[in-house]
Amino acid sequence: MRRVVVLGSTGSIGRAALEVIEKLPDHLRAIGLATRNNVELLAEQARRVRPLAVAVAERGREGTLRQLLHGLDVEVYAGEEGLLTLAGLDEADIVVVATVGISGLRPTLEALRKGKDVALANKETLVAAGHLVMAEARRRGCRILPVDSEHSAIFQCLVGEDPGMVKRLILTASGGPFLRTPLEDLARVTPEEALLHPTWNMGRKVTVDSATLMNKGLEVIEAHWLFGIEAERIQVVIHPQSLVHSMVEFLDGSIKAQIAASDMRIPIQYALTFPKRMATGIKELDWRKVTLTFEEPDPARFPCLSYAYEALEAGGTMPTVLNASNEVAVELFLAGRIGFLDIPRCIRYAMDRHVPVADPDLEMVMAVDRWAREQVLSLASLSPTERG
Ligand SMILES: NC(=O)c1ccc[n+]([C@@H]2O[C@H](COP(=O)([O-])OP(=O)(O)OC[C@H]3O[C@@H](n4cnc5c(N)ncnc54)[C@H](OP(=O)(O)O)[C@@H]3O)[C@@H](O)[C@H]2O)c1
Repeated sequence: MRRVVVLGSTGSIGRAALEVIEKLPDHLRAIGLATRNNVELLAEQARRVRPLAVAVAERGREGTLRQLLHGLDVEVYAGEEGLLTLAGLDEADIVVVATVGISGLRPTLEALRKGKDVALANKETLVAAGHLVMAEARRRGCRILPVDSEHSAIFQCLVGEDPGMVKRLILTASGGPFLRTPLEDLARVTPEEALLHPTWNMGRKVTVDSATLMNKGLEVIEAHWLFGIEAERIQVVIHPQSLVHSMVEFLDGSIKAQIAASDMRIPIQYALTFPKRMATGIKELDWRKVTLTFEEPDPARFPCLSYAYEALEAGGTMPTVLNASNEVAVELFLAGRIGFLDIPRCIRYAMDRHVPVADPDLEMVMAVDRWAREQVLSLASLSPTERG
């Protein structure tokens, strides 16, 4: 029996993780759940799975949560401290980190410090501070099990292989909703259009990241940290069907791919039951109807992907700047404050003004994260003509 804490249980990954856990009651048990502010759904989930503890990150919501949980024997925590308490819960074996953005960083470090394995969905954590997270995992002898479908695919392809025989990693990307949109129309696309992903049903931030291909850029950096492979040996290919979740090419010329339906319950379950593979009951692929195509990403259409490679190359705090400026730009775009093409402009603006600091500690990472956010907010307050 593996006891699981799910941070971000009310989100797309969190809900799928609970589904996986509830389908395997002899193997997995949810003992902690956390949300940002959706206390109604959190309470509903708690009544179903009976965790030992729950947390709500937004202060002021814990009163409502306590009322909703009246009569249930469960500890209630609040604020960032509350999330950290859940991440380090004594009874937990593994922590699913499925919150959005930099909010995943401290809880991931806390879980590792307390000797827990981490099932990591939150890629921003590794982008902002991969060196700190990987060092902590090594120090405590804990595993970081990838939940992201691409990294789960690579992880699965590497089982039983000699890491020294890996030639390169090939990350697949759907290309998002604007793969074929004429370039001159991109400036006018709306948040609603950006949120219509062709193959995956995900949270808002990661869906916009998929539309700009920043999601793939973040995943290149995530793969670098998870698998210890440098940027030149991580290739991105567009694969609009989202069935080949990623590939590993070996020095003997063989290429291994992991292929499955586009359903996050598969990688989530693999992370939670690893090294065991267990049945999911997910509908099998009909090979007679499957076509697999691959193409080069267009750098003019997707500048964010090149920015991510550039940030990884620059190292130090540059990926932190990439991540933070993207987070704010996506929020501004979703709020209708900037256009779609302003997202890469904001990231470029922050990166151009940053001199990376090598080997930053957590305090420095958080300071640089704040600095980058301020840069983007100051740029966004300029008029469109001033923005250039
Ligand atoms: N969705 C996917 O298929 C997918 C695939 C691969 C990787 N990922 C990664 O997984 C992570 C989660 O994505 P998602 O699509 O599940 O997002 P989502 O649907 O927006 O859900 C996010 C969850 O995290 C909570 N949350 C957000 N900000 C928080 C904060 N500051 N403190 C505490 N909790 C917070 C949310 O609570 P509320 O409900 O209260 O807002 C919600 O439970 C992201 O890093 C994403 O890139 C997602």
